[in-house]
Amino acid sequence: MGVPFVGEALKFLKDPFAFQLARTRQHGNVWKTRILGDTIVFFAGPKAFEFFMDEANFTRENGSPKFMQAILHADAVPFLDGDRHKKRKRLLLAAFTQDALASYLPGMTRIFERFANTWAAGGEQTIGGDLSQLGFDVADMLFAAADPDTSNTTTAGDFSTMIKGTFSPPVNLPFTAYGKAIKARDRLRVYIKDAVATKDGAGTALGYLKAARGPGGEQLTPQELEIELLHFYFAAHGGLTAAITWLLVVLGQHPDLAARLRAEADQVLGDGAPTLAQVKQLANARAVSREVLRAYPIAPTTFIGVAKKDLEWGGYAIRAGWKGAGAIWATLQDGTTFQDPTKFDDARLDDRNLGNLPHGAFVPQGGGPVDGHRCAGEALIQMAMPAFLGWFTKHYDLAFPAQDVTPAGQGLGPLPRSGVRVAITKRR
Ligand code: HEM
Repeated sequence: MGVPFVGEALKFLKDPFAFQLARTRQHGNVWKTRILGDTIVFFAGPKAFEFFMDEANFTRENGSPKFMQAILHADAVPFLDGDRHKKRKRLLLAAFTQDALASYLPGMTRIFERFANTWAAGGEQTIGGDLSQLGFDVADMLFAAADPDTSNTTTAGDFSTMIKGTFSPPVNLPFTAYGKAIKARDRLRVYIKDAVATKDGAGTALGYLKAARGPGGEQLTPQELEIELLHFYFAAHGGLTAAITWLLVVLGQHPDLAARLRAEADQVLGDGAPTLAQVKQLANARAVSREVLRAYPIAPTTFIGVAKKDLEWGGYAIRAGWKGAGAIWATLQDGTTFQDPTKFDDARLDDRNLGNLPHGAFVPQGGGPVDGHRCAGEALIQMAMPAFLGWFTKHYDLAFPAQDVTPAGQGLGPLPRSGVRVAITKRR
């Protein structure tokens, strides 16, 4: 349980992935620790993960730490529960329907192409910084209808200041990381408020969210939209950046796989941006994308919940009011579900194998029903990754010099230590 009050917070924040794997190996699928005064129970493995996701057992209200709620807004969807959560979530899901996803592909491909062409002109180089800007630009196009042909580096800078401060000691002074994050958050709020007020957002998530209507005609108020969009940037940016980064690492380390993905893309894709119907035919790229989400450390845990009542799991008592979280990484690396779990296996999660897994096994973006707390962006990521793989392998060659791609320990969604060194050329 660690030292009084602070508990094991420092160990957890330093490397939440290694921390939960070590504890799960030591104690089994359900174990507890103390983080900043809270007892938190972690649930690993399909059955325990589903137990945590069951709305009868845990609520998200008052679960996440106050400093995180202050950055993202206490009224954002990950911190709501019950009917308010469901109503809000159903409206938000309007941005992830098939029609909506199909309409995002041309703009996303333009962003991919802008970066890939710069890399192709630059010889061997380190592209970690560009990948982060690419993740931001996709989010900016989707959520503020920004121009896909330019990078907004000022707002991207504010955004990274906000992220950095979110996971620093929550002391709000002008010179602390947290204090700077609050100031950056305020500038981002102004930026988003302006986008909501002045843009119709046609062909972007902003447009779909503005047009979203519930069964009784209810809609998101401008203030709710502003709150959720800030959170959407936060949710999407790191995930998108990590997803594209690890896809490039896999392509670089497995040239034979890259050749197979190119053959598939050559059969399915045309010259322009992939369409949704085409992306759905990229079965190998889809399997590789899922395996990337399983095999690389992207999101360590779910958001935190609170036990609604006294609970019991496998003989352990969990008291009402204790906190809990789904141990995503330990579940994805669970050797009883995934044989040889540290190995990257490009066919492990093809459509057939995925269908044979128990519920709660493949949970890179959380679990349970879509109108529960499962990631709203799941369908977007599961389209964007195969679309990128197909489009990139069809149009570019990648040389990947020997480098250290172990995830750089610190924090949530760590990226390769090398900074991602590549030599990209246009296919001849
Ligand atoms: C690889 C990329 C991504 C990963 C790994 C990821 C992962 C997750 C995880 C683990 C959760 C927490 C689930 C829980 O607390 O039970 C979550 C929640 C969420 N994610 Fe994602 N995410 C990704 C991309 C995105 C994108 C692109 C969006 C787009 C807006 C998004 C929007 C959300 C939202 C709105 C929630 C809160 C859902 C709720 O509480 O109802 N995510 N995501």
